[in-house]
Amino acid sequence: MAAGDMASTRLGAGRQHLRPLKRRGLVLLRLTAIVFAVLLFCEFLIYYLVIFRCSWPAVKTPADAGGLGTPEPVLRAMFLADTHLLGAVRGHWLDKLRREWQMERAFQTALWLLQPGVVFILGDVFDEGKWSSSQAWADDVGRFWKIFRHPPHVQLRAVAGNHDIGFHYQMNTYKIKRFEKVFNPERLFSWKGINFVMVNSVALEGDGCDICSGAEAELLEISHRLNCSREQEHRPQECGDGQQLPASAPILLQHFPLYRRNDANCSGEDAAPPDEKYTPFKERYDALSQEASRKLLWWLRPRLVLSGHTHSACEVLHGAGVLEVSVPSFSWRNRNNPSFIMKL
Ligand SMILES: *[C@@H]1O[C@H](CO)[C@@H](O)[C@H](O)[C@H]1NC(C)=O
Ligand SMILES: *[C@@H]1O[C@H](CO)[C@@H](O)[C@H](O)[C@H]1NC(C)=O
Ligand SMILES: [Zn+2]
Repeated sequence: MAAGDMASTRLGAGRQHLRPLKRRGLVLLRLTAIVFAVLLFCEFLIYYLVIFRCSWPAVKTPADAGGLGTPEPVLRAMFLADTHLLGAVRGHWLDKLRREWQMERAFQTALWLLQPGVVFILGDVFDEGKWSSSQAWADDVGRFWKIFRHPPHVQLRAVAGNHDIGFHYQMNTYKIKRFEKVFNPERLFSWKGINFVMVNSVALEGDGCDICSGAEAELLEISHRLNCSREQEHRPQECGDGQQLPASAPILLQHFPLYRRNDANCSGEDAAPPDEKYTPFKERYDALSQEASRKLLWWLRPRLVLSGHTHSACEVLHGAGVLEVSVPSFSWRNRNNPSFIMKL
């Protein structure tokens, strides 16, 4: 046998040996590509697809309404609730990582596609603000600004929830102040002709404690200013000539919903499932007390109330036809189809 033949067979054997290896490599490559595509879709593109289907409600232009005059400026507002950023004590790091990635993608995608002018978070921004140390708090706040980063022309405002500052019995001035240092503490916020009242609903216990009576005094002051703005023509003496507010009924933003017996009369998508709808609401725990709810409606005469806390959606009418919308939770931890509300 010639030496050349020997070499070629050995080479041939080598090639045969190589082929399965190469095939295995290709399969691996293909698998990686598939896994990558699925990940890209599930963790990234799906947010675009889902949010792309949302659109802003149609605006009634003055021409539609049959009126004359310049078109009103349009304010695009987005409302989220109960983001419950996990804390140091109860949050598992993997759970944290996953939920925060989901919220970050959903929020950033919504911001990019829908371009709201203002974003409101209706309480329970943090899960453990009620007991976190100042270091854990600083860490949570840092992660919050990363997830909910936004360009400077977008305003982000939040009201406090029971997880941010604790229920009434856990709440103290220190926790309220540290929450207000992160979010603008302004209670009355007017933008593009709309008045928004940011209610600290945890302080509406009605027991006359210092924080609660302070909160009520603040609401009365706002009520007074709103009443004055509605009386543009015959302004009573006591109105003085302070800064004028837009003459329109305010929108209330609060964590606890106004009192309702249960979710039975809730309509709209994402409402509580039938087996939870009839669970009675406890006053001052699941919803505001009847007394506090009456006061808010009397004093502020809102056109719309937005609240969170229940983690389910609800559209319900109060008394003389004031609509309240409870916004479902924005965290996948609390529900499998988190959502937000858009309003012009
Ligand atoms: C504002 O008007 C409402 C309705 O008339 C009233 O109930 C409320 O007490 C008024 N607010 C103040 C501060 O007087
Ligand atoms: C639901 O609405 C009906 C009709 O307005 C009312 O009679 C009933 O008391 C409401 N139920 C609850 C639980 O609020
Ligand atoms: Zn809550």
